[in-house]
Amino acid sequence: MASVPLSPAELIPRVLGRYSPVVVDYAEGAYVYDRDGRQWLDFTSGIAVTNTGHCHPAVVAAIREQAGKIIHAQANILAHEPMMQLATDLAATFPDPLKSVFFTNSGAEAIEGAIKLAKIVTRRPAVIAFRGGFHGRTHLAMSLTTSRSKVRGHYEPLLPSIFHAPYPNTFRNPYAGDASDACIAELARLFDTMVMPDDVAAILFEPILGEGGYIVPPESWVRRVAEIANRHGIMLVLDEIQTGVGRTGQMWCFEHFGIVPDIVAVAKGIASGLPLAAVVSSRENMDKWPPGSHGGTYGGNAVACAAGVATLRVLREEGMIANAAAMGARLMAGLDRIAERNPVIGDVRGKGLMVATEFVTATGRPNPEAVAAVIRSAQEAGVLLLTCGTDDQAIRIIPPLNVQPDQIDYFLDIYAQAVERVD
Ligand SMILES: Cc1ncc(COP(=O)(O)O)c(C=O)c1O
Repeated sequence: MASVPLSPAELIPRVLGRYSPVVVDYAEGAYVYDRDGRQWLDFTSGIAVTNTGHCHPAVVAAIREQAGKIIHAQANILAHEPMMQLATDLAATFPDPLKSVFFTNSGAEAIEGAIKLAKIVTRRPAVIAFRGGFHGRTHLAMSLTTSRSKVRGHYEPLLPSIFHAPYPNTFRNPYAGDASDACIAELARLFDTMVMPDDVAAILFEPILGEGGYIVPPESWVRRVAEIANRHGIMLVLDEIQTGVGRTGQMWCFEHFGIVPDIVAVAKGIASGLPLAAVVSSRENMDKWPPGSHGGTYGGNAVACAAGVATLRVLREEGMIANAAAMGARLMAGLDRIAERNPVIGDVRGKGLMVATEFVTATGRPNPEAVAAVIRSAQEAGVLLLTCGTDDQAIRIIPPLNVQPDQIDYFLDIYAQAVERVD
């Protein structure tokens, strides 16, 4: 393809903030290549999407083959093999009774579908979400989101009957006591002061906060929230959009916590980069959703579903989830060593290959300036990274799940140098 003469800044509206200057030509595995042939180690995975690496040959082959058969097999009109196969394979990754799959296009749409389903099942109006959560940018998803005010600011009025409780942050715990206990007490207080439990359709959370800072909640908090939802007949809805598809060293992050949710929103890694998302729940719940009360033109696109089938197959056959756990441990151990030498890193946290380091000032305050400097240095050395957290105080490190030990070690070298430069 001939080079376009204008720059991204001239062509693409600035609302789409840009994290790197790279204009990519092609990509392979953990690497992307720009128009001048320069190689970049991509530890953003397109925001936790290309879990199988860029352009995995099996995924590319599945896309090519399906594109030659039928691209748009509109789901209200035509059933097709890739969607049926993916519904089968995806259901097999969930415990009972989560065996029914509704396909849609994006994470935000999966959240829309999940909450609409919860309202239909319970016939209740309200939703409880958690502070720091990110659920997408449509009006409902944005109303649930509190990771940064710029996501919701100037868009009011937002949706009513949405209540936010605190999410436990053990690194920056604002409470005098245990973060988990305090946040459960705040949730109980919400029921005393703001909303009756039998008006609540759904309690929604990310099992690790993504955009909100890669905050890993204590297991006790997750289990107690699940118990509270269960006790009050509230649908427990998990946003596994960033945490799912093997990212945390388990297929689904909720498996780390020993809970089974009622409804799960899935997207990002499910089709290695083709736009595909899903709402997963029990057959009993799905049977309460009347025909025509939800849907969409593109949901379950045949090429995207074929990519999804290939994605799940290579994850399984190439042992990528076990690799994510092993490489995650290697990465965290290396980052801990860097943090020991460099007090500008206040915290290293994560699960599997969903990892972040939080940067602090000498007085322990969030340090977005250090984050920006480290990201810039890493970029100059050919490594792509992303920030997270309300204050942009953390750097997330999200390689593909098939990353190799030498790539982790190479990254750690570059990262150590970048951190040492600011410390
Ligand atoms: C946890 C979480 N939920 C929802 C979304 C929204 O997904 P999408 O951008 O596909 O609408 C994202 C995207 O970053 C996410 O990380």
